Amino acid sequence: MLDRIDQTRAEAGSDAAGLLSAESLEQFRVKYLARKGAIAELFEGLKAVPAGERPLVGKALNALRNDVQSLYDNARATLEAGRGEAAAVDVTLPGRGRYIGSTHLVTRTLEEFQRIFVSMGFNIVTGPEIESEYYNFEALNFPPDHPARDMQDTFFITKNVLLRTHTTPVQVRIMERQQPPVRAIMPGRVYRNEAVSPRALVQFHQVDGIYVDKGVTFAELKGTLVSFARQYYGSSIKYRFRASYFPFTEPSAEMDITCYLCGGKGCRVCKHTGWLEIVGSGMVHPKILQRVGYDTEKVTGYAFGFGVERTVLLRHDINDIRLLYENDVRFLRQF
Ligand code: DAH
Repeated sequence: MLDRIDQTRAEAGSDAAGLLSAESLEQFRVKYLARKGAIAELFEGLKAVPAGERPLVGKALNALRNDVQSLYDNARATLEAGRGEAAAVDVTLPGRGRYIGSTHLVTRTLEEFQRIFVSMGFNIVTGPEIESEYYNFEALNFPPDHPARDMQDTFFITKNVLLRTHTTPVQVRIMERQQPPVRAIMPGRVYRNEAVSPRALVQFHQVDGIYVDKGVTFAELKGTLVSFARQYYGSSIKYRFRASYFPFTEPSAEMDITCYLCGGKGCRVCKHTGWLEIVGSGMVHPKILQRVGYDTEKVTGYAFGFGVERTVLLRHDINDIRLLYENDVRFLRQF
């Protein structure tokens, strides 16, 4: 009898190791602990044990029942904690990939601008985000009453110090410390005091560019911007230049390309015009060259300015600029 008790304990012990599902747990209970289970059967056999041995065997049987009950309780607790099947290692499963962050879409776009313009001979120059009223407006030929100087658009820090509203002031800073030829792009952060909306943030990025040398022409400006657009948007784009106005360029032009989405037929992205405006540009106004001491009889220049977020939204068909800075990985992982 004592041997059978030991055997049952050993068998229950090895069965308990395989209790990884609710089904096997129930089978275990029926086999050992139920009213017609192995332990009940042993208790049944107690009657046949000689009276003298009965207390000893009875004690051993009680111990077995307690042991098997606790095997069962432990296995059930493990299963209920959800560790049952998960704890079994399935070595045939593919490894779990670890998500690695990537460069932000706006940073990548800035890098791509830089790569393309550097390949065309431009240097990269940066300037201060906290700028004086002089560089941001006056040196760029903004009339004193120009609406862009208004408190509506500009974050003033003091009367004459502000957060730059564009990267164009860096053009003046470069020319003040360097004689022609000057050929540089100026990427950076800019600020505008505007209501945040799907189309506007108070902080965004621009890439300005300038080339001043002997005999620089409008044709070269067009050639450079077209070359950029073909590299960035694809070689099949069509383009057009429209006359425009900026205080610091004369003449001024904006470049449009055929909408990449509809190919020029008209759609939501291009607001049914077939065209997308991608950059402001023009020939550097002689007054600006003269103010930095350049001889406008000898040198001319062109300049241009891109809005980076705008470019990103257009190219990836994103309809709300705020998505770029909400840091929701579900959005960011798509790029
Ligand atoms: N600074 C202009 C803006 O903020 C963009 C711009 C237009 C820059 C023409 C230029 C340029 O350098 O030539 O909207």
